[in-house]
Amino acid sequence: MNIISNFPLKKYNTFGIEAFAKKFVAVHSVDDLKKVLEENKSEKKFILGGGSNMLLTKDIDALVIHIDLKGKKIIKEDENFVWVESQAGENWHELVLFTINQNFGGLENMSLIPGNVGTTPVQNIGAYGTEIKDTFVSCEAINIDTQEVKTFSKEECNFGYRESIFKHEVKDQFIITSVVFKLTKRNHKINISYGDITAELEKQNIKNPTLKEVSNAVIAIRQSKLPDPKELGNSGSFFKNPIISRNLFNKVKLKFPEIKHYDVSESEVKVPAGWLIEQAGFKGKRFGDAGIHKNQALVLVNYGNATGQEILNVSKEIQKTIFEKYGIHIEAEVNII
Ligand code: EPU
Repeated sequence: MNIISNFPLKKYNTFGIEAFAKKFVAVHSVDDLKKVLEENKSEKKFILGGGSNMLLTKDIDALVIHIDLKGKKIIKEDENFVWVESQAGENWHELVLFTINQNFGGLENMSLIPGNVGTTPVQNIGAYGTEIKDTFVSCEAINIDTQEVKTFSKEECNFGYRESIFKHEVKDQFIITSVVFKLTKRNHKINISYGDITAELEKQNIKNPTLKEVSNAVIAIRQSKLPDPKELGNSGSFFKNPIISRNLFNKVKLKFPEIKHYDVSESEVKVPAGWLIEQAGFKGKRFGDAGIHKNQALVLVNYGNATGQEILNVSKEIQKTIFEKYGIHIEAEVNII
């Protein structure tokens, strides 16, 4: 294994930010990963997956360990279900296609989400009415300090909206090395209730869609709204949709009657941050090389040479304006480094 000093990270983060790692190593097997951890006990470490959910505002003064573990396979099946195990370094969308091509159901609504499999449980990724917690069985992870391997069950992961134990109780303690999903072989639970999917399938005149057709509809929607990180640096939704009290929501609704919302519980509602940001006039705005995407106000973009700090400043400006206008605090979904 080759540890490289002063390593450029531009190609390793989907925002395309120019920043450097003090040291960098890519690991291709669990044994190598254990060895790197063992041999660099005293070194500060930073774990890098697909780099699709972070904003680098400075160089990383640590040993960056890039998790490049590959492999996906069926580990068990019965008449109705199949258990698919994927190593952490597999590209998420390639895993989704791998399952759909074999007509395994469950991941289709999450087609084309950028990033690698190993980070999907951390923030319980989701799209179009589905989250990975719906098909997640367990994941294996290595304890950074002891190198012990631990299996986390779905219950232990404590999943919530873009939340899990890996962001809280065991934050920075484990490296996820593989994930197991339980998918349907028949009687697929096709979920096309999300407005955008319904509209896209109607447009294509599809009545009883196959998994592939649902996936293709999701791909078409994402491509029309969300920028491809290969063409325009971004990290997907920059903010979470805020969950606010019904009291606050009612107050805001008096002033902005057209505000959209989803009920979370009797006392809480979720409001679309993209809507708040668009109404505040930010959609499509550009500040130097940092900006807000023209088709989806929740996505901040790097037009080429923006620094992480510039993008962070734009995000702070948005947060400030949203708070002043609606009294709602919106929280970054992306990890700010
Ligand atoms: N909206 C606007 N203006 C905008 C963007 C959205 O008015 O610029 C409105 C839409 O009209 C719609 C509502 O806000 O009524 C929700 O928009 P959309 O369906 O595009 O979804 P979102 O809430 O903005 C979330 C996820 C996305 C995921 C989509 C689809 C979060 C933080 N984001 O976005 O996930 O793809 O739903 O399920 O929950 C990501 O996490 O990186 C991501 C892209």
